[in-house]
Amino acid sequence: MGTNAVNLLYLVTIVCFVLALKFLSSPATARRGNWIGAFGMTVAIVATLVKSGVHISWEMPVAAAIGSAFGLVGARRVKMTAMPQMVALFNGVGGGAAALVALAEFHELAPPPGRIQGDISVSILLSALIGSISFSGSLIAFAKLQELIKGRPITYPGQKLVNAAVFLGCLGLGAAILTGSEKQWLLWALIAGALVFGVMFVLPIGGADMPVVISLLNAFTGLAAAATGFELSNNVLIVSGMLVGASGTMLTLLMGRAMNRSIANVLFGAFGQVSAGDVATAGAGGGTVRSATADDVAVMLAYASKVVIVPGYGMAVAQAQHDVHALADVLEAKGIEVTYAIHPVAGRMPGHMNVLLAEANVPYPQLKELDEANAEFSRTDVSLVIGANDVVNPDARNNHGSPIYGMPILNVDQSQATVVLKRSMAPGFAGIENPLFVDPKTVMLFGDAKESVAKLAAGVKAL
Ligand code: TAP
Repeated sequence: MGTNAVNLLYLVTIVCFVLALKFLSSPATARRGNWIGAFGMTVAIVATLVKSGVHISWEMPVAAAIGSAFGLVGARRVKMTAMPQMVALFNGVGGGAAALVALAEFHELAPPPGRIQGDISVSILLSALIGSISFSGSLIAFAKLQELIKGRPITYPGQKLVNAAVFLGCLGLGAAILTGSEKQWLLWALIAGALVFGVMFVLPIGGADMPVVISLLNAFTGLAAAATGFELSNNVLIVSGMLVGASGTMLTLLMGRAMNRSIANVLFGAFGQVSAGDVATAGAGGGTVRSATADDVAVMLAYASKVVIVPGYGMAVAQAQHDVHALADVLEAKGIEVTYAIHPVAGRMPGHMNVLLAEANVPYPQLKELDEANAEFSRTDVSLVIGANDVVNPDARNNHGSPIYGMPILNVDQSQATVVLKRSMAPGFAGIENPLFVDPKTVMLFGDAKESVAKLAAGVKAL
């Protein structure tokens, strides 16, 4: 196929990717965005394969079939709660692929020395370095979230110095290659160093911060892919890599802002290393925990005129979203106003609650974002907190010593009454206690969220 036709198809791909990002930014259009993105990717793959001069060996379709089968089965089987690990894994292999292409290109171009042009060798080095960091870092992020290794930050004295030394070592190897020493072992050593750095960079970061790290590593993979695009003179790879890099960077910054944490604090603050003191004092003031039965709570709900549902990670674990929608329907049938308050970092990935509620066909206009929701709590009769914890912890507002102090929260404690659905008094992801649970206006309904919500719907219906 001629160069012009291929470039035209690449342009179609780029437009598809831009549209996909646009549609993915709203839960109402996200599904369409996904399809458009997948279509664009198919066009890019076909255009690359039919490009004149590309030799198609039998290994290529076999590898593509194996990769597609893994992707399809993995994506269909993955639980919503395990989605961040899945993204980490997919992201990591993208980085790994960029590093492998860099190795192959270097192997192809290096002998005799001096043949690689400066700009190409910079691209090769960047995709090898960034791709390898992204690969091994993503695998550690996956292992932490999958609880294959412990989620708490793994730290030791002098860690930052050691990490800096490894990174500088990688840069030194890169400089040696750039200054004309095009020896294969130098690039192998650089890749090995970058793989080690990726592991050491993620180990000291707490499990609670993994979604932010995954998003950052996603941005790294995008940059590695863009560098690979320069290496291969492939415009579609450059543009799509930059799109991934830019969107990953923006997502990282937005998540940091939603938690009121700088990215430096996320990366180097060893957050989640909660001391015994933090845990003991976070619920300071003692206080009595009031536990209620589902029938008690059903009565509270049935006599309310405005109920706000606050979903959190526990709703995702219990897969209670369909029952939550059914409960809202029962309440609305009784003339009660129901809305949902969505915290930007509720759950374990951006938009986690929106995706779950959209899956249960909850009408999108009922979902209120943080500021809009907070304006409504003072005139709310009952806030129904379903498996949320950190995102409703008043310590973030009131306790200067709290590890989450400054994180914007949903002010459920300002409503007339709060009901918290969870299984125990166990802390949330930040590992700290929550004074909301001993607030005199709060009652706890202990049990699995799905079962509790079903009991509430039956209870309200029967009244
Ligand atoms: P968490 O604070 O993690 O609390 C979830 C609560 O759900 C737990 O206290 C748990 O208590 C309860 N739970 C778990 N399984 C349950 C079940 N089957 N039924 C009922 N309850 C269940 O969740 P959150 O309030 O959504 O906060 C999210 C946290 O993740 C924040 O710290 C946030 O900063 C962090 N984070 C999120 C993101 C994104 S992008 N979403 C990114 C980085 C960090 P029991 O075990 O007692 O049931």
